[in-house]
Amino acid sequence: MTMPHIHSSPFDVEAVRRDFPILSQRLANDRPLVYLDTAASSQKPRVVIDKMVECFEQYNSNVHRGIHQLGDRMTTELENAREKVRAFIGAGDIDEIVFTSGTTMSLNMVAHGWGRKFLKAGDEILLNPMEHHANIVPWQLAAKSTGAVLKFIPLTDDGRLDMQSLDRLLTPRTKMLAVTAMSNVLGTVNPVGELARRAHDVGALICVDGAQSVPHSATDVRSGGIDFLAFSGHKLYGPTGIGVLYARKELLEAMDPFLAGGHMIREVYEQSSTWADPPAKFEAGTCPFVEAVGLGAAIDYVLSLGLDQIAKYEHELSIAAHRRMSDVEGVRILGPSPEQKGAILSFTVEGLHAHDLSDLLDREGVAIRAGHHCTMPLHDLLNLTSTARASFAFYNTFAEVDCLVEAVLAAKKVFRRGT
Ligand SMILES: Cc1ncc(COP(=O)(O)O)c(C=O)c1O
Repeated sequence: MTMPHIHSSPFDVEAVRRDFPILSQRLANDRPLVYLDTAASSQKPRVVIDKMVECFEQYNSNVHRGIHQLGDRMTTELENAREKVRAFIGAGDIDEIVFTSGTTMSLNMVAHGWGRKFLKAGDEILLNPMEHHANIVPWQLAAKSTGAVLKFIPLTDDGRLDMQSLDRLLTPRTKMLAVTAMSNVLGTVNPVGELARRAHDVGALICVDGAQSVPHSATDVRSGGIDFLAFSGHKLYGPTGIGVLYARKELLEAMDPFLAGGHMIREVYEQSSTWADPPAKFEAGTCPFVEAVGLGAAIDYVLSLGLDQIAKYEHELSIAAHRRMSDVEGVRILGPSPEQKGAILSFTVEGLHAHDLSDLLDREGVAIRAGHHCTMPLHDLLNLTSTARASFAFYNTFAEVDCLVEAVLAAKKVFRRGT
């Protein structure tokens, strides 16, 4: 029998769930959907879907081009969305917000547009093993083409950055510290403010992967001392195909464009071109303008719930999930204690491969993620090839935490019978 959870949050999760059409569906065998894969991609509230339908039905037209009423309206909506992003992350200037296709594109823009231009042989780029491939591989390419060297901050046994090693690793040779604000596997929340300060002390810049942190906690690029910030719309309750690169204006002015074509130019001659001012300089071609407007609607929605409320509720869910899961025999939970991490629970179950586990959970309607989660260096370090990951959002319930744990217990029984 499941004990009722006692929690103090006044968060009205049932009302919130009604905002997400997908959550009320039944899956195979009439199972309700228990969606615990928000870290991979979040679900979308009705207001986001409606706003995008409104764009398509009422004023769809290319932006910054047409001198007609539809083009004007669509451009205004796009620039309103840019302003919403600016305010959401505390940037000082709307021109510091570049729309991209997602975190991966944003990080590539920094590694290529800044890295290839400013890195020299012997310069150092500081990474760490918990990074997503999107914040490792672009730096490998930049290092290869410039002769820069990749260094890695070691992790503590419980999956945090070993901050003491920074004294040794951060030197005047360090030019870039690229770090995730929240690990997509361990859930570790990294001390971005301190890292920024220490990077700046040696003259380095900091590039923050905000894919997991921006949707779940307040971000302030100026007080955090962040030079570059990347995140994705689809993890922030917005659509796919849209993301953001924030960078301080002087950095955007100094670095090279990554993609070239229409809209990003000032003058084009047969043999050469000059660039438009940022952000246009980094938005070659037709930008995903309807998706950007959808992201703006998602930001409005998140703000209407309150980021502090969201963070508090998700933390309570995470604590409950960790507490219940740690009681299951044979389960190993990865990463630091739930107090030091976001609402992500990655784990292994003795004798059960993560893919088999997720398959069995899926039969109960419980959607989790299994695999290396685009973090092979981290899995190498953990001596694992794959892990199971449940990730939570404000639309999840304590009853769903129970479903997860009960489904894991049931999966263990299936395998015990099979052996
Ligand atoms: C920490 C982190 N960084 C980067 C990415 C890449 O995001 P996208 O696939 O939206 O570009 C992800 C996606 O899972 C992530 O979790």
